Amino acid sequence: MLPVQSGNNVARAGTFVHRRRRFSDVAHRPGGGGRVNAGTLPPHIGGMMIQADGKTGFDIHGGDLDRAAARYGHPADGWIDLSTGINPESYPLPEVSSDSWTRLPQASALTALQDAAADAYGARGADLIACAPGTQALIQLLPRVLGAERVAVLGPTYTEHAAAWRAAGIPTDEAADLPPPDRSLVLVNPNNPDGRAVDPERLAAWAETAASAGHWLIVDEAFADVRPDLSLVPAMPLANVVILRSFGKFHGLAGLRLGFAVAAPGTARRFEAGLGPWAVSGPALEIGARALADHAWAERERTRLAERMARLRELLSGAGAEVVGGTDLFVLVDYGAAAALYDQLAGAGILIRRFAGNPRWLRFGLPGPEDAWNRLATSLAVFAAGASGLARRHG
Ligand SMILES: Cc1ncc(COP(=O)(O)O)c(C=O)c1O
Repeated sequence: MLPVQSGNNVARAGTFVHRRRRFSDVAHRPGGGGRVNAGTLPPHIGGMMIQADGKTGFDIHGGDLDRAAARYGHPADGWIDLSTGINPESYPLPEVSSDSWTRLPQASALTALQDAAADAYGARGADLIACAPGTQALIQLLPRVLGAERVAVLGPTYTEHAAAWRAAGIPTDEAADLPPPDRSLVLVNPNNPDGRAVDPERLAAWAETAASAGHWLIVDEAFADVRPDLSLVPAMPLANVVILRSFGKFHGLAGLRLGFAVAAPGTARRFEAGLGPWAVSGPALEIGARALADHAWAERERTRLAERMARLRELLSGAGAEVVGGTDLFVLVDYGAAAALYDQLAGAGILIRRFAGNPRWLRFGLPGPEDAWNRLATSLAVFAAGASGLARRHG
């Protein structure tokens, strides 16, 4: 185990010393999100902000290190981002041809990517595949391309799904289980954050009845690379079914922005039309095609991720957290002192994820290098020492 870090901004054993914010080095958000300013952030406990009107919520979302830095400062050893389900060991980046950088993306490169994706995901043909700059872009397009009168989202889940349908003015409810097939349905399978899995045969049966009344089934398989047994892609094309596949999570290349819709050819082409020409960059087409064709890497990675996740689950259970779900890319734990642990870890430069719907839940992604594992183990031990010290003093 690494020694507990010293310095004025790191938690010390047995105490809860929080990093002092350094207002001078507050980061900028890329992409026009505006300046994140610690001075304007509302007060918070465990990442939960408390506004003047008494409303609460989490304003640090998965992977938002700029905002985390604005609130907790810049850790001396850099942030360890465990707030997403992105593989920390990315697919080794191949050399990218200069044509991919300099020319507009060519149809042949798009076809090569569609072929590789169809093969990797087990689709019957490349005509079922629409390529996109990340599945988030497709989530935004779903209401416009498919339309629906009423939507159920199997929850709790990735909040962007309900947000996209609601933004389009379509009545959207959260459902705890498959609703009657009298509306369209969105689910994430396996689910983020709890890993809930729905049998694909059950989904296919649900979709068959729903499709006859014109309703849609949308299955977001962003994390299915580690649960290929759950995928509905091999059964495609099914009428009125759309499956989303994210490239960035399993391959650890979320910044490349690449994702896919798998659907009947006519629907796939409607997604392409909705995105417009050259939506996927030349480098993304080339890297994606290469990586998806590397089935040996994918096989090895599934095994490696399962081993690392077993280690993470053990570490968290050993620290007194109850593992309540997850996949091999993230784990969800239930922890009574979730807010304090979140603050403690963020103070030590380790960002994890909390959830407004369940304040006892914490989601952890996998640490990458051994140093990150050590920092996590040390911070958990520091927290445990502080917590038992408090219990002794107050018990
Ligand atoms: C369930 C789910 N779907 C889709 C996405 C978006 O992924 P991307 O746009 O990187 O493919 C995320 C990102 O966290 C997710 O958790």
